[in-house]
Amino acid sequence: MSKDKAQQQKGHWQAVALSGDVGRKPQRVLFEGTPVVLFRAGGKVNALFDRCPHRLVELSTGKVVGGDIECPYHGWRFDGEGRCTAIPGHVGKLPHYRVRRYHAIERDGVVFVSAGTPEGEPYLHCMQGQDVIVRRVRSSTQSTVIDAAENILDATHTHFTHKGLLRGLSARRHAVRVEVTGGEGWVEACYTGEERQQGLISRLLEGERTKTVGRFRYPGIAELEYWGARGLVLATTFHLRQADERTVEGVGWLIGPRQSGLGHLKALAFKPLFTIALEQDRRVLKSASDNARHAPQALPTIGPLDFLRRDIAAIIDGKMPPAAAEPRKHQIEL
Ligand code: FES
Ligand SMILES: [Fe+2]
Repeated sequence: MSKDKAQQQKGHWQAVALSGDVGRKPQRVLFEGTPVVLFRAGGKVNALFDRCPHRLVELSTGKVVGGDIECPYHGWRFDGEGRCTAIPGHVGKLPHYRVRRYHAIERDGVVFVSAGTPEGEPYLHCMQGQDVIVRRVRSSTQSTVIDAAENILDATHTHFTHKGLLRGLSARRHAVRVEVTGGEGWVEACYTGEERQQGLISRLLEGERTKTVGRFRYPGIAELEYWGARGLVLATTFHLRQADERTVEGVGWLIGPRQSGLGHLKALAFKPLFTIALEQDRRVLKSASDNARHAPQALPTIGPLDFLRRDIAAIIDGKMPPAAAEPRKHQIEL
């Protein structure tokens, strides 16, 4: 990672867990290769380096006592700021010890952590501020952020990886226009001209589709919007992060418009189907990740339909995506 990039990322909030995951018990998450313990005290979520400074035991295997986290080995306690507040058996003034603290906040049912001092609020999802129904999901995939983000945004794998679910069983394709635009920290592909999709998910949930938008945002956010004649039909925003070298963790929102009772049912039906699609993607991404270790010098080919790959790579690297200077138009069969 370049220095610029490391600097830039420090000021960012990253989604690390669902609020519901952080209950009475401390929770360990991997954040940029570092274990972080999340614990709730006085309703607030705190985040500390998950390693007791004494004998390096995982604090997350301890418990929360009176708002502090207590190490299970000798019972040292640390407050939400990471300050040591108790050394059982010690008489007299407490020495100053501390464990590294991370900024943490909760927004819309999701816990965000930052390695620096971020300004402003975290970005949540593409329908933020609108009257929508949301479901939240968490995922863990053996992959890299760029491969996982590209997978979410890639329309061409659905015929194969998700045959029958997102696409029909027939091999019929339609002429589709794709417009790729971008700017600082984002790139998007807008697909128009698709007819109604024949896959199970589409038949269940959609009417006429007018456009599909796939967007990537810095540092690892992939979102999809499906638009129909009467507005938004479905959307998802996934926050991805490299938990460790081989694992991408994601926290995502599934978003549906709030409408009649039926709208609510549709949103409920969507989640299990979505879970199946996610599992299908996890399988191919794991296969690719395992296989990448063989002949690692041979890099993956960027094919003519991989519209966003170079732009995503540039954004992750803290650079302007090529689409910012030169928007592109493609004609494909989808
Ligand atoms: S290792 Fe944590 S208190 Fe000793
Ligand atoms: Fe997929």
